[in-house]
Amino acid sequence: MTTATETRAYQRAKARVEELRAEIAYHEHRYFVLDQPEISDAAFDALMQELRRLEAEHPELITPDSPTQRVAGAPVETFGIVEHRVPLLSLANAFSEDDLRAWHRRTAGLLERDNFAMVCEPKIDGLAVALVYEDGQLATAATRGDGMRGENITANVRTIRSVPQRLRGKVPRRFEVRGEIYMTKSGFEKLNFERGEAGQPLFASPRNSAAGSVRQLDPKVTASRPLDAFLYQLGWQEGGGPPATHWDVLEWLRKLGFRVNPEIRRMQTIGEVAAFCAGWAGRRDALDYEIDGIVIKVDALGYQRQLGAVGREPRWAIAYKFPPTQATTKLLRIDVNVGRTGSLNPFAVLEPVKIAGATVQLATLHNEDDIRRKDIRAGDTVIVQRAGDVIPQVVGPVLSKRTGKEKVFRMPKTCPACGTPIVRPEGEAMYYCPNRQCPAQRFRLLEHFVGRGAMDIDGIGESLAAQLMRSGFALDGGDLYRLRERRDELLKLERMGEKSVDRLLASIEASKQRPLAQVIFALGIRHVGGEVASILANHFGSMDALMAASTEEIDEIPGIGTTIAESVREFFSLDENRQLVEKLRAAGVNMREASGGAREGPLSGLTFVITGRLERFSRDGAESLVKRNGGTVTSSVSKKTSYVVAGAEPGSKLAKAQQLSSEILDEDAFVALLEARGVALGS
Ligand code: IVH
Repeated sequence: MTTATETRAYQRAKARVEELRAEIAYHEHRYFVLDQPEISDAAFDALMQELRRLEAEHPELITPDSPTQRVAGAPVETFGIVEHRVPLLSLANAFSEDDLRAWHRRTAGLLERDNFAMVCEPKIDGLAVALVYEDGQLATAATRGDGMRGENITANVRTIRSVPQRLRGKVPRRFEVRGEIYMTKSGFEKLNFERGEAGQPLFASPRNSAAGSVRQLDPKVTASRPLDAFLYQLGWQEGGGPPATHWDVLEWLRKLGFRVNPEIRRMQTIGEVAAFCAGWAGRRDALDYEIDGIVIKVDALGYQRQLGAVGREPRWAIAYKFPPTQATTKLLRIDVNVGRTGSLNPFAVLEPVKIAGATVQLATLHNEDDIRRKDIRAGDTVIVQRAGDVIPQVVGPVLSKRTGKEKVFRMPKTCPACGTPIVRPEGEAMYYCPNRQCPAQRFRLLEHFVGRGAMDIDGIGESLAAQLMRSGFALDGGDLYRLRERRDELLKLERMGEKSVDRLLASIEASKQRPLAQVIFALGIRHVGGEVASILANHFGSMDALMAASTEEIDEIPGIGTTIAESVREFFSLDENRQLVEKLRAAGVNMREASGGAREGPLSGLTFVITGRLERFSRDGAESLVKRNGGTVTSSVSKKTSYVVAGAEPGSKLAKAQQLSSEILDEDAFVALLEARGVALGS
């Protein structure tokens, strides 16, 4: 029997549920679409919890579009088929500026005018999706399929937080919006890492991983995957006049609550378009999602209708495709080299192959586990990837090309350079040669010591370093400072005339004045790169203070983790390393930070990560401003980061910051913080 109080309680619950859903939708939009959260994660969780509680008490109030159902959707048996009311077209490709100009000429001819606006959009390498909304609510989501019929993936798409379940404002009664579902690069790497740890097969690319994720029979699995979506097109609509240009459609979609790519630009000339394409071809790595080109669309929808399509390809759009960054080639053999820390680094020797303008012959293979996880074997045909300036890597084997003659890689049991049995420290992926006298290690260490960012000694290349070592002139960095006394002997080395010897000696002499950070970096302590060295120098102010510091003291410094702290401690606990420092000190090498220890200032105790392009400062300028005022700057976001300053095109660090819920400042907020703390700007 239902009492009057129960009914009233039910009515109250119903009203509150509606209110909560609206509020949650609002905050999800701020967080997932606009990247501008207004409330803390905890406050958001509290709203979700209240909604979950009310729904548990009144299960009849649960609707499929409730935010609680994003993760809790019921498994689908199989994917139904969705007939697309208007087919999803594909795009013609342009592979060069000439192709782009030819398209523009053809289009201008058909429109009988040269001057028409175009919209340029990053071509997201994900999978196309068509979303149908009815009365402002997500009704169906379908894959592209063959363009005419796709698969019904509604339950899975509901789990993607940046896809609105309900729209804001006045909307056509029914309409379809199209876009791309993708996985971020950082999310993909994290997912693959976890899969590797769990012994599951790895995904080949963010694209494959996104496609696999939306085709899961259990939406819970989809919900656990870092998927996102950009919307870029109106499919069809019933009722309500659409905007007259594509640009306005995008703005309209944005207003309704859809996530629209912020990099999209409108331009007037094909010259601008070509420059935009070339610009992104060189900068695509800066984005945390993969793009394989730029889509160019004629802006006026009237012109689009006038141009129509030929077969499956609209004449009003074209895809400019970037040169590929992957290629297949033969993996001839797997070799191992010894790094300066004694690490054994397997690498692939490849049949030379051209990728994005460079010939690639060697590629890194990271470590034995990675090789096993990807099942890469000597003799395999492999996919090799080269992105930006990073070392090329082997993505994986082409299994269909296997002949059965390929050889599984095994790490040698002994160091290939000195024959000492190798070791693998617990919890580490790398093997090491433990022999500190190992010639390969010493050679790499010497090379590192004189290298850029370390002691910066000009004139010692690989061959001279090898000669110096072989002939016993220099077994470590400290020996270099005694070369002055052996000038005559140096002259007897290959290709060493008076001039080059004197230049070399002058350069060695000059290196004594390198800042402490560079000297620390030059020592080649495991896990201490240039940036960590600079934090240590800044904090301790002298080599002696650093050498005397305990693991705990080092660990407490913002930007430094336990692994580094332990590695520094271990390094200085070894006699031979302390002796090296003494040798350098005796030679007159700088052992103090010019400013003498950690600076105190208005930003003391704060750690910043600066990412993206700033308007008011250069990157170096912003970093040195923070440092001069006592703050610390690190390159990666961690729990110790106080603020992430995000400029234009911030890339993956911003995503990481969002994951860790670090405080994110845009440039204005950064300036406001500086001013509030009394930092003198422009000094
Ligand atoms: S427009 C006729 N815009 O590229 C218009 N497509 O090669 C067709 N894509 O199937 C779609 N980013 O999956 C458009 N900003 C963008 C896009 C984009 C990625 C994909 C989409 C399409 C494929 C065509």
